[in-house]
Amino acid sequence: MTQPRIAVGADKRRVDGRLKVTGAARYAADHLIDGVLHAVMVDATIGRGRIAGVDTTAAAAQTGVQAVISHLNAPRLPYRENTGSNNPPGQRLRVFQDDRVHFFGQPVAVVVATTLQQAQHAASLVQVSYAAETPSFDLTGAPANEPTTYARGDTGQALPSAPVRLDVTYRTARNHHNPMEPHATIARWQGDQLTLWDKTQWVGAGTATELAAVFGLPLASVRVLSPFVGGAFGSGLRAWPHVTVAALTARQTGRPVKLVLTRRQMYFGTGFRPSYEYRLRVGADRQGRLQAMSHDIRAETSRYEAFSEGILPAGQMMYSLPHVSQHYASVPVDANTPIWMRGPGYATAVHVIESAMDELAHRVGVDPVELRHRNEPSRDESTGLPFSTRRLRECLQTGAREFGWRTRPRAPRSTRDGDWLIGTGMAAGVYDTARAPAQSRARLSADGTAVVESATSDMGPGTYTSMTQVAADALGVDMGRVRFRLGDSLMPATPPHGGSMTMASVGSAVQDACDKVRRQAVTLAVQDPRSPLYGADPATVVVRSGRLSLRDRPARGETYRRLLDRNGREHLEADGSFTLPTGEARFSFYAYAATFAEVAVDARLGIVRVRRLLGVYDAGRIVNPVLADSQAIGGMVGGIGTALLEHTVTDTRDGRIANANLADYLVPVNADVPDLRAIYLHGEDREADPLGVKGLGEVVHVGVAPAITNAVFHATGKRIRELPITAEMLR
Ligand code: MOS
Repeated sequence: MTQPRIAVGADKRRVDGRLKVTGAARYAADHLIDGVLHAVMVDATIGRGRIAGVDTTAAAAQTGVQAVISHLNAPRLPYRENTGSNNPPGQRLRVFQDDRVHFFGQPVAVVVATTLQQAQHAASLVQVSYAAETPSFDLTGAPANEPTTYARGDTGQALPSAPVRLDVTYRTARNHHNPMEPHATIARWQGDQLTLWDKTQWVGAGTATELAAVFGLPLASVRVLSPFVGGAFGSGLRAWPHVTVAALTARQTGRPVKLVLTRRQMYFGTGFRPSYEYRLRVGADRQGRLQAMSHDIRAETSRYEAFSEGILPAGQMMYSLPHVSQHYASVPVDANTPIWMRGPGYATAVHVIESAMDELAHRVGVDPVELRHRNEPSRDESTGLPFSTRRLRECLQTGAREFGWRTRPRAPRSTRDGDWLIGTGMAAGVYDTARAPAQSRARLSADGTAVVESATSDMGPGTYTSMTQVAADALGVDMGRVRFRLGDSLMPATPPHGGSMTMASVGSAVQDACDKVRRQAVTLAVQDPRSPLYGADPATVVVRSGRLSLRDRPARGETYRRLLDRNGREHLEADGSFTLPTGEARFSFYAYAATFAEVAVDARLGIVRVRRLLGVYDAGRIVNPVLADSQAIGGMVGGIGTALLEHTVTDTRDGRIANANLADYLVPVNADVPDLRAIYLHGEDREADPLGVKGLGEVVHVGVAPAITNAVFHATGKRIRELPITAEMLR
């Protein structure tokens, strides 16, 4: 018996919207904890080297200062391995454990004081001297870590003999996530019990397990609370050093401590999307059918951890081609460790592949949309498996029709509007349908209300709302009767709130828990001689608005409330879970996108304005179109940033980030964002997960940057192989 889908699929306002707009939603730094002290970190001012001395005399003498801690007096922490996390291979930064400086901005000391102002002032008085070494940021020539490689066919033979060949190198800038809410932690010890209020996308294995490992505590000794997250885009996928600093200072002072990163500290205190150097060689026939692609990829990482991301799959499965080789190596530079950022890996790989496809289309004189159709695979050629669902063709066709692609002039630089050169471009996109085991718990009370919980996060996609929708339908109650709770590591475990896997994984666990509760109620009713449903086949009972009834005879039934009251039950409760479906090894799971862009480029100044963007998505079932739209709009805005604005600039002399603020690190603002439109192909993926969703948050970003840069080529005739594209490059 399946429940009707009433809330799922409908436009629903955010259930936490009122809390957010009234300020009642508490973000990490907003929690009011009695007796809290304030910590301010002192950051290294060299890019590499050793700390020669730390003079804390003046700082320690200031009013209100409770502690000044550096490697000279910090306790040694066990820093056990965190096997449950996604920490990259290597040794994580061990804060205040030795005199080594690995990057500019690394925390080298911390001041704790009664007020924030006292701590800020005292931190400015800490004198640190250094033995500086010369940092390196060379991505091209420096020795790389052990590469990851992939090969099928023989690119060495196929590339030189291909009738049409491209050999192009793309470079992409380092990008920072820049969520609105800064990273912040409040730490409180009660004996050996540590409680953290933290900005995180993973209260469980990301933060609780990590802090337990760092301090050598049993996992049961650490509780992490994170009920609201003001954006993250990946920056909250691991616990950064400041979380340890907050816990360490709280333990040293015996008082709760609050530590909030400044906007500037966000540029070296959390991770970033690494800069890439990506050489792609393409061989094709004269009709544009791909024969071979060879990918040589280098990306930044820190010297102490080898970060990697999903840069390879797109090159293996997007298009049909017999010969593929890939070589992906991270290159240690004197920076902190990167981390996944929206559409991680795929966004960068697809930028290169889809830009090169545009170059190929131009070379062979084939329309760019038609070129994608010509190279559509019938199965995943990296595994030989069929796609669970793959509707990229429909995305392309729908997008072309709705965008008005048919009237596009073939030749670049052929449309003008006054001083502006007008161009259009498109790109396909793909992101894997990641899912991971997840758990949930549902409790239905005799008053007909329900509480459902999972240890997930809601960094903005509307998880509170979408989970409430799923729970309401599975329980057969109105949404207003369900309270979904999240953001507490003591709740049933979930994977990281990232990689577009929350809806599929956590949503399916929520549905499972609520299905079980509903079935308990149905069983109770059909076995209860006093119930109107006594003796009915449970498979014929549905629940709507809290009332159980026969599907075909709605008059025969009763409410949860009556059923539970009569049976003396205060509540029904069940645990639910999601595990990867048995079809996992039989299909290839991806979500798809087609993005179309129109740009105007000032012919003399080189300024690029995006005029409109259209995205068409094959993402499986859409649980809430209005929430989906906010994902798609965010993904497109992020794509405008990556394509045209965002660039973390390192001063290579000392590793200083030259634009570590929102005035100099440019992100799109309203004036940069034009008419945006998103279309979702109606459907579901029955193989992926019980909800039929494929994940949306990442795929909406993948392919946006190349659609824009391909439009810039069409407008100007100039192919820029570097991101972001700036006015200087187009003059
Ligand atoms: Mo997303 S980069 O996994 O937050």
